[in-house]
Amino acid sequence: MKIAPSILSADFGNLERSIKLVKDAEWLHIDVMDGHFVPNITIGPIVVKGLRKYTKQVLDTHLMISDPAKYLGNYIEAGSDRITFHIEATSNPLEIIKMIRNTGTKVGISIKPNTCVDTISEFIPLIDQVLVMSVEPGFGGQKFMTSSLDKIKAISALRDKFNSELLIVVDGGINQETALLCKEAGANVLVAGSYVFNSNNPSEKIKALR
Ligand code: DX5
Ligand code: ZN
Repeated sequence: MKIAPSILSADFGNLERSIKLVKDAEWLHIDVMDGHFVPNITIGPIVVKGLRKYTKQVLDTHLMISDPAKYLGNYIEAGSDRITFHIEATSNPLEIIKMIRNTGTKVGISIKPNTCVDTISEFIPLIDQVLVMSVEPGFGGQKFMTSSLDKIKAISALRDKFNSELLIVVDGGINQETALLCKEAGANVLVAGSYVFNSNNPSEKIKALR
């Protein structure tokens, strides 16, 4: 199981120290919010560029923004290794998949809790990861929605059929208990914000999740 600490719950007054605390994790998850697609505003490309200098971890950028095509290039130039956009935010997912692929960056699609798996099934062979939101996007520290487990199972069945390399990423409300449920349902990557960062020992939390 790969762990992707979400820096949304990190100390933004000292990001360098924050990311050192989670250096044992394979990925760093970066939550980008625009105050339009979700009711919160967070991280611009300039922050990704700053982080890139201080870590070799995989920078997994989660775009919770309207019109992802307009800004994804900036996040790639800033040093993102993986870009995930929301299916609900675009009318032309194929174009976005191609735009990201053409830069050699890994591509993911995310679905919100009320979006069904059918909306993305045709894109499964073309992408590297699906990010299943297990809370309403916008804020850290929310409770895991168990309704996401059936979706993870459904995507896992699609992975077996159409794309054995696909990673299933789960994001929101992850702790030791919900992590286990996600693993059993077929997840490969767990995003965890508050569980990891609101702790005196983030590296122990990462180990526990793994
Ligand atoms: C929510 C973000 C999540 C968030 C998870 O919109 O996409 O990545 O940081 O935070 P926790 O782990 O606290 O639910
Ligand atoms: Zn996220």
